Amino acid sequence: MLSESIAALAIDPEGTYVDATFGGGGHSEAILRQLKGGRLIAFDQDEEAVREAERITSRSFIFCQANFRYMKRYLKLNGVTSVDGVLADLGISSHQIDLAERGFSTRFDGPLDMRMNRSQSLTAAQVLNEYSAEELHRIFGMYGEVRNARSVANAIVQARVKQGFSRTGDLKNVLKTLAPHGKENRYFAQVFQALRIVVNEEMKALEDFLHQCGELIRPGGRLVVISYHSLEDRMVKNYINKGKVFGEMEKDFYGNPLTIFKAVNRKPIEPTNEEVEKNSRARSARMRIGEKL
Ligand SMILES: C[S@@+](CC[C@H](N)C(=O)[O-])C[C@H]1O[C@@H](n2cnc3c(N)ncnc32)[C@H](O)[C@@H]1O
Repeated sequence: MLSESIAALAIDPEGTYVDATFGGGGHSEAILRQLKGGRLIAFDQDEEAVREAERITSRSFIFCQANFRYMKRYLKLNGVTSVDGVLADLGISSHQIDLAERGFSTRFDGPLDMRMNRSQSLTAAQVLNEYSAEELHRIFGMYGEVRNARSVANAIVQARVKQGFSRTGDLKNVLKTLAPHGKENRYFAQVFQALRIVVNEEMKALEDFLHQCGELIRPGGRLVVISYHSLEDRMVKNYINKGKVFGEMEKDFYGNPLTIFKAVNRKPIEPTNEEVEKNSRARSARMRIGEKL
């Protein structure tokens, strides 16, 4: 959804934009091609992204190796207090998932790491080895929407008594006995997703980020978010439609809704069949666009 997301930003060539998830830089480069006098500030917390960002020599470009939950602070450091648009293409990049040593993939054996920012201390192995059965149950149910989350949690707690978890293969060995027949890969992916969300505090980071978008984007400016699972999409939808990531919309004294954005499309934009054929990971992508009121 590269071209659709860039079009959704409705770029003013002299404007100031944020790419909150630089990754391999594809979206940033497309934004930069449309700027003439404007600026792009890009964020990514992964050190691999830093190397990719070094390729970009444009003077309109600033890269911040930081979590996008601190976007406001970093923009202020660069003298920016309001922006014309923000793009976020959430989750992990194909580069991250394709490297066995990062531990994100269910396809290869690798260390149970899953940190996007490798200078933080919490890893997936620590979650599996140290969290209580109740915490693990909650994590797999809530963030992985795993049906038998309690059984997974109990099986992990039992298995780690003999030997702690260190490789993704150790986890898959435990999950194999609990996975629905014929749907093992999807099941592994749900459990891995839940762990990744916890390790990187993804839901809290998204919540903090959305609130800052509400403060930073000027009226008429755009917020464009591509999400890859229903929890993220629900948060983005709620924020754009209701001004709140959870719960009911608030109203003022006169009963007028206290919304911050208006949704540009009622339904999320999904990738075309052609895009899914080319890149199967795009299958779950959902893009929402908000215009600041
Ligand atoms: C799907 S990829 C983005 C791909 C990018 N749009 C491109 O064109 O290559 C998501 C990227 O966002 C980064 N990321 C995810 N959550 C983040 C966060 N809270 N703060 C900063 N970067 C984050 C990941 O490290 C990853 O590189």
